[in-house]
Amino acid sequence: MKNKMLRIKPIDSLLGQADGAGSSLKKALGPVDIVLLGIGCIIGAGIFVLTGQAAAQYAGPAIVLSFVISAIGCAFAGLCYAEFAAMIPVSGSAYTYAYATMGEFIAWIIGWDLILEYLFGAATVSVGWSGYVVSFLADFGINLPPQLCNPLGTHLVQIPGQGWAAAGANTLAELAGKGIDVSTLAQATGIINLPAVFIILFITLILVIGIKESSKVNNIIVYIKVAVVLLFVALGFKYIKPENWTPFIPQNLGSFGQFGWSGILRGAGVVFFAYIGFDAVSTVAQEAKKPQRDMPVGILVSLVVCTILYVLVALVLTGVVKYNFLNVADPIAVGVNAMEGFGWLHPVIKLGAIAGLSSVVLVLLLGQPRILFSMAVDGLLPRVFRSVHKKFHTPHITTMATAFTAIVLAGFLPIGILGEMVSIGTLMAFMIVCIGVWRLRHTQPDRKRPFKTPWMPFVPIMGILIALIQMLALPLMTWVRLILWMLLGFAIYFLYGVKHSNLHKNSGS
Ligand code: ALA
Repeated sequence: MKNKMLRIKPIDSLLGQADGAGSSLKKALGPVDIVLLGIGCIIGAGIFVLTGQAAAQYAGPAIVLSFVISAIGCAFAGLCYAEFAAMIPVSGSAYTYAYATMGEFIAWIIGWDLILEYLFGAATVSVGWSGYVVSFLADFGINLPPQLCNPLGTHLVQIPGQGWAAAGANTLAELAGKGIDVSTLAQATGIINLPAVFIILFITLILVIGIKESSKVNNIIVYIKVAVVLLFVALGFKYIKPENWTPFIPQNLGSFGQFGWSGILRGAGVVFFAYIGFDAVSTVAQEAKKPQRDMPVGILVSLVVCTILYVLVALVLTGVVKYNFLNVADPIAVGVNAMEGFGWLHPVIKLGAIAGLSSVVLVLLLGQPRILFSMAVDGLLPRVFRSVHKKFHTPHITTMATAFTAIVLAGFLPIGILGEMVSIGTLMAFMIVCIGVWRLRHTQPDRKRPFKTPWMPFVPIMGILIALIQMLALPLMTWVRLILWMLLGFAIYFLYGVKHSNLHKNSGS
């Protein structure tokens, strides 16, 4: 059994596959396209939604520091991804890298983990999309019933001048501080988040029918997204009230993760979600003109650009609105509402956010079926996951299975729980990638490495440590959910994958 779990897919056979299957892919993407692709996947619900929620619940204005800590961790992991992506420029990302270096069982763990990143990620961003659509429609006097736009069981209050928000402890305390009696406000309980369900269905339809993946459309959406973020920062600067930043690091409330330094670390674990996506750059390695140069450039430049934007947004947002009021579905919109005299800006920013979030949902829902497809081709999942639609030539079964699961998650769960699951799962995948790069330097020291991670083994060790710290800072329940998820994955591997693996069949063992 141990031998089976450790069997690896030789890198040369992977490269051979890439030359065969991948030769039909045009090597058309230059460094600018790849940076834009990265930014397109990165900027999404993390900055548009989770920043506000993490500031309100965990870190206060010091969420800015959480962003910096998380970015440093991502940079270390990003360098390791870059070494792998340039060395094994085939699709499949971390799953493929692990299969080639650490054996089948670890590859399975990563593949299973990537479901948290892509499928749960799509659900998370859809919930973010829903928040902005509801807010956008409200600007035009169309008020969707709060029960149908919120997760099951959420207790909501209608805050004067701001709209519906989850009645968390912070919000209630802040209202009480302002002398507002909550019992005088309208209240409701969430049933289902229908707009989130709608966007998943809509994008799935596009994906099943088949889209010509156009990097031009992606580039336009990226420009809109970045423009919206810059506009928010530039106009919001004037409205910053420094008293909102005091105290910059709110005092810890007595338990780990609720403000103070532990809150900053927990905040880092949560906003890590905002950086997810730069690893997706590695999936287009086969289409890069010069993967050796373009992969590291694409990964690192997109990361640096997003870090700068995020720190600026976090500073402005917590400067214009007191952090307690940011635990809402559309915190950037709440920030815009606080800037008087910019009525025209409200719909513009919200529309930009909606377009930007749609593209992230699309990328995630596009990526997930392809990873499942790779796993099925390797025999680790049943053959049905390999089926391709006769007319549309798309992996329709995996696409619809992905959509169904994402709908259930997005329809009934709050964005906080979903986002934390995505963060913890992806952090784990990052750790394994860092270990893999380090290990391969020892097991295959002579292999050609077009890009070498500098300062070995300092970089992977730091990548592992920072990821681990962020994971440890996440709530206990997130760990419990991760463990349950992994146990389910182990059960599937040992009951199915280990016996049906193609490596197993080919070796005849
Ligand atoms: N980084 C992506 C987002 O924030 C997943 O939506």
